[in-house]
Amino acid sequence: MWDERYGIDEYVYGKLPNDFLREMADRLPQGGRVLCLCEGEGRNAVWLAQQGFRVTGIDASFVGLAKARRLAQEAGVEIETIHLDLAEADLGEALWDGIVSIFCHVPQALRKDVHSRVVRALKPDGVFLLEAYTVRQLEYGTGGPPNAALMMSLVDLKDELAGLSIEYGDETIRDIYEGRFHAGAGAVVQLIARKPAQPN
Ligand SMILES: C[S@@+](CC[C@H](N)C(=O)[O-])C[C@H]1O[C@@H](n2cnc3c(N)ncnc32)[C@H](O)[C@@H]1O
Repeated sequence: MWDERYGIDEYVYGKLPNDFLREMADRLPQGGRVLCLCEGEGRNAVWLAQQGFRVTGIDASFVGLAKARRLAQEAGVEIETIHLDLAEADLGEALWDGIVSIFCHVPQALRKDVHSRVVRALKPDGVFLLEAYTVRQLEYGTGGPPNAALMMSLVDLKDELAGLSIEYGDETIRDIYEGRFHAGAGAVVQLIARKPAQPN
């Protein structure tokens, strides 16, 4: 489905970064190594690279990642792309200064597993940044999967990310204009969580 959705010239989620990422990127360790999960057409990875981060984007859509590389070339920055399903992705151990997850809606069992891998994959003091739709989004119908089982809540995320300390967590309604598939008021969960620094 994703290759089909991305198979047009238009960037269907836009070329500009996600609003929450732009607002909160200064929480990510400056200049660090950042992994973007479900990166799609590259808008977030490219913007982060423009801010001086070393960025890797992972996604299961070959077509999306080809567009991501094109966007990086247009912007004159380098990003690494990995074409892989999250179900098969080894995210490594203490490897990333930041991990970013924007509208990465996967089935609950996989999401829980990915989030436990995120905790392991962050370096000490590394930061996880997430925005996703909550189940309330089904009332708004302005984007996201029409499937309650794929939505997230702050309570679930806190549980799945045990081991990180939550620096910011909110469920809110905000205006989202991020490409043709995210258009209008939407119900989201937003989270910033940090891995404890290693004791001296
Ligand atoms: C709504 S798009 C968001 C793209 C990007 N994060 C953004 O905000 O522009 C969701 C993305 O998740 C990817 N995706 C869905 N399931 C996946 C999986 N199991 N493994 C890797 N990527 C997946 C899709 O290919 C798609 O690019």
